[in-house]
This record gives sequence, C-alpha cells and structure tokens, in this order.
Amino acid sequence: MSEQKKSIFDNPLTFLAASYPYLFIVLLGIGVIYVKNLGTVNENSLPARMFDSTTIVKELPVSDPAILTAVDIAMMKKPSDELIAKGKEIYSTSCASCHGADGKGDGAAGVAMNPKPRNFHSNDGWTNSADLSGMWKTLQEGISANGMAAYDVLPADQRLGLIHYIRNNFMTNPPEITDATIKEIDDKYQLTKGTFKPGTIPVSGAVAILAKEDAELVKKLESALKSLETKSKSDIGARLFLDAVLDKKLALSFLLSNEEWKEGTDSFLKIVRKNLNGNGFKYKVFSMEESDVEKMYNYLKSSL
Ligand code: HEC
Repeated sequence: MSEQKKSIFDNPLTFLAASYPYLFIVLLGIGVIYVKNLGTVNENSLPARMFDSTTIVKELPVSDPAILTAVDIAMMKKPSDELIAKGKEIYSTSCASCHGADGKGDGAAGVAMNPKPRNFHSNDGWTNSADLSGMWKTLQEGISANGMAAYDVLPADQRLGLIHYIRNNFMTNPPEITDATIKEIDDKYQLTKGTFKPGTIPVSGAVAILAKEDAELVKKLESALKSLETKSKSDIGARLFLDAVLDKKLALSFLLSNEEWKEGTDSFLKIVRKNLNGNGFKYKVFSMEESDVEKMYNYLKSSL
C-alpha cells in the first residue's frame, strides 16, 4: 500500500494524471464563480463612457475675479493682427492635434474619431454652422456627443482671434459676418459687455479656509455655551431658549452658521420652524407667546 503511494510521487507523469481531476474541479469552481460575478467584473473593469470632469480636483492658480476684455463690434468683424497671431498659437497648441496643422481634419488625435474632426476647408455638413455664430457656439458649448470639447475658458477676444485665424487660413468662402450675426451673438453671449471670470483660489487654500472657519465656529459655539450657562440663571431669554430646545448645542451651532435669522423675530421664527427636523429646537417654537419669542430672540442676538 505504502509502496504504491510512493510510486505516484516518484513518477511526475503519474502524479499529474492523478491530480488532474482535482485540478479540473478547482478550475471549474473558479469558472463558475467568475461567471456568476460577471456583472460585477464587467462593471468594475469597463471604462466610464463619458469623461466625468467633476471628479477631477484641479489645483487652480490664484486669480482675481475679472471682467475679461470686452470685445467691440469692429473687433468681431476684424480682430487685430496680434489677436489673430494669438489665435494661430492657440490653434497649433490646442486644435491642430485633431483638426490638423492645415485644418483638414486630419490630425493624429482625430484619426479614430467618428465623426471626424471638422475639415475647415469643406463647407458641407457642419453640425452648428460655419458662420461666426455657429463657430462661437461650438467653442462656447462644445459638441460633446461628437467629441468636440467646449473651449469656453478662452477669453472672448482670443476666441475671436482663433476663429478669424481659421477663417482666414483654412476656410474657402467663409460666411460673411453680418450685423445681424453680430447682434445675434451679442444678445446671446453679451460679448460687448465683457465676460465675467470668477476669481479662483487653489483647492488646498479653500480647504484651509474651510477648516479655519470651522475652528472659528467651534470657538464661537464654546463661548455661546458658556454664556448660556451663566445667563440661564439671570436672563429670562436664555431660560426660554433652554426650554425651547431639545439639543442646545445643535441649536446654537445652527444659529451660528446661519446669520439670516438676525434680521428680526419673523425671520428667526421662519428659519427655525422650517428646519425643525435638524436644528435642535422643539415643536414648542410653534406655540410660544410672541413676547417670549421676543425675549429669547433678544438674548440670542446679543450673545451670538
Ligand atoms: C479631440 C479632438 C479635437 C480637438 C482637440 C478639437 N476639436 Fe474641434 N472638432 C472635433 C470633432 C470630432 C469635430 C466634429 C464634430 C461634429 O461634426 O459634430 C469638431 C468640430 C469642430 C468645429 C465645427 C463644428 C460644426 O459646427 O460642425 C469647429 C469650429 C471646431 N471643431 C473648432 C475647434 C477649435 C477651434 C479647436 C481648438 C481650440 C478644436 N476644435 C479642437 C474634435 C476636436
């Protein structure tokens, strides 16, 4: 018996043959588990179909809010040479990869795209349109379904330089820029008024500000709690407040983080009653005497 066993391990082939059924069962098991979880496996490995830019945390540079260069009507018809030169620069860094150096829609990055990046030399089949308002719309909104991104971050004057660079160099008979076209764009996008650009701060800076605000709030809350404790003996308003809340800490932090209630007893009652579920107050605030509300309000306003 032991001799026979030994001989199985001695001969690798016999050993392999003997273990084959077990191996088969294990593989079959793995197969069954895999097939059962196919849904999840697929879900986890499929790339997102649409690029979701909201998940990207970009470190923004510090910049002040600004009204970007307003454009005038003459500029829309014929931007300066410098702006067109700027447009050329933007074209070669941001557009040529898809639309090709000569605007034929044959850039390397666009080869696999369907529809193909626009060949600016052709007048057929534009999705928006080849006139100024269509091209402006394309840059403002993008044609996301077809892989053409929006370039709305480009300031209005640079966008005009870019569009005119494309018109002058690639397009055969670009549609005339009429006063009606200009009015249409201006009504829609308020170009002559200037584009407002909100100021930005780096994300890490914003987080620091939030944390600082939190710390300030905590400090305020601590002092409000302390004052409540001392005042509750002498001040009727403080006592009324204690009576009206389920959770004084919650109620105080609710009031500290929302200043609107300080406008008067009416706003106070409105805000408190509207948020009763989460602000630490009791239903009692619906049935309090007006004069008591007033006293409570005065106490809170003086101490917060
Ligand atoms: C990732 C590739 C890609 C890049 C980069 C790109 N485009 Fe496009 N663009 C496309 C595709 C694809 C289309 C075709 C969309 C369609 O036909 O609906 C298109 C179409 C257009 C159109 C024509 C829209 C119409 O009405 O049919 C304009 C104008 C345009 N792009 C301008 C630009 C400019 C200017 C830049 C650079 C700032 C740029 N594109 C960068 C891919 C790209």
